[in-house]
Amino acid sequence: MYNIRKITEDLYYIGSDDIRLELFENIHPIEKGVSYNSYLLLDEKSVLFDTVDASKGKEFLEKIKAILNGKELDYLVVHHVEPDHGAMIGEVVGLYPNVKVVASKQAFVFMKQFGAKIEENNMVIVKEGDKVSFGKHEFVFVGAPMVHWPEALVSFDTTTNTLFSADAFGTFSCLYGRLFDDDFNIELELMEEMRKYYTNIVGKFGVQVQTLLKKASTLDIKMICPLHGPIWRTNLGLLLDKYNKWSKYEPEQHGVLICYASMYGNTEAGAMLLANRLKEKGLHNIAVYDVSKTDVSTLIAETFKYSHLVLASPTYNMGIFPIMHNYLEDMKALNVQNKIVGIIENGTWACKAGDEMIKIIKEMKNMIVLEEKVKIMSSLNEESEREIENMADSILKTL
Ligand code: FEO
Repeated sequence: MYNIRKITEDLYYIGSDDIRLELFENIHPIEKGVSYNSYLLLDEKSVLFDTVDASKGKEFLEKIKAILNGKELDYLVVHHVEPDHGAMIGEVVGLYPNVKVVASKQAFVFMKQFGAKIEENNMVIVKEGDKVSFGKHEFVFVGAPMVHWPEALVSFDTTTNTLFSADAFGTFSCLYGRLFDDDFNIELELMEEMRKYYTNIVGKFGVQVQTLLKKASTLDIKMICPLHGPIWRTNLGLLLDKYNKWSKYEPEQHGVLICYASMYGNTEAGAMLLANRLKEKGLHNIAVYDVSKTDVSTLIAETFKYSHLVLASPTYNMGIFPIMHNYLEDMKALNVQNKIVGIIENGTWACKAGDEMIKIIKEMKNMIVLEEKVKIMSSLNEESEREIENMADSILKTL
């Protein structure tokens, strides 16, 4: 029988790990996989919270059947319709035709668009502040629009002080048999996955996350059940603090992220020389990435982390090296803000990459571009080495 986990006396975890998926949303590499979380509450009424990805559908339906043990499913609460959670809504409604589906008005529109057939008299439309009782558990619904879809809701079980948070507070990584945050060494095993998930999936919507955090601060939350990753019951302070920082686009660390593109190693030599100079001058917190060797989702997560960012690019087709260009556009799309930025450009005849990178950086909020720009003409020489030295000093002054 499939693994079913009891969270509390009457709440079951019936999600699944997906370790085979290479790319989440067919774009973000997930080396440690991802979990699709779903929960089943056995109160006077039986209540299913969200469903799972279609790839885990068969075992999901069997778990529901096993827990219900012949009983009817009374309610399906849909916090978020994206198919990694909503793919099985149609099947659940088909198997339990009397189930009442609880969701926002817009969620019902989306469910229909995705092909779920729900009878009108089985729809329970809820909005901010609405309460629904399932027996001894009473839930209040809280709007979470654009975290990260417009129809999203979260719900709070006022009986157990549990927040069902949809995609908010989720993380990449399978659970590997574990269930709670305190089953993990968060710093070693989860933090990178949490950051990568937040910044790439929710990162654009900092304002909306701040709104949700303000609403959450009025609730006495004891446990958070998200739609991905572990259930949080111990390190809630750490989780909320990270979300607060990320959604305000505040760097987590004073340090320098150097991202370079290099065709023949000469721009790379400039980037590495800067890293060396910074290190010699006493800075330890430096990270260096070749953008051609690193997926942009990792670059984005690292960008959110550091206070300083140095971009080094050769000129290509009279502009920015394409992979660097893509990274910059992704930064802009995800609302990256509040960085001090250094620019290193390279060109053999018409050196254009620097100005083009600055143009995109200036379209983002609160980005300070250091005056000390480095221009490499084909390969490092005395002059560009001196410029790198100056950039290192300028970075250290602003750290
Ligand atoms: Fe995990 Fe927006 O779906």
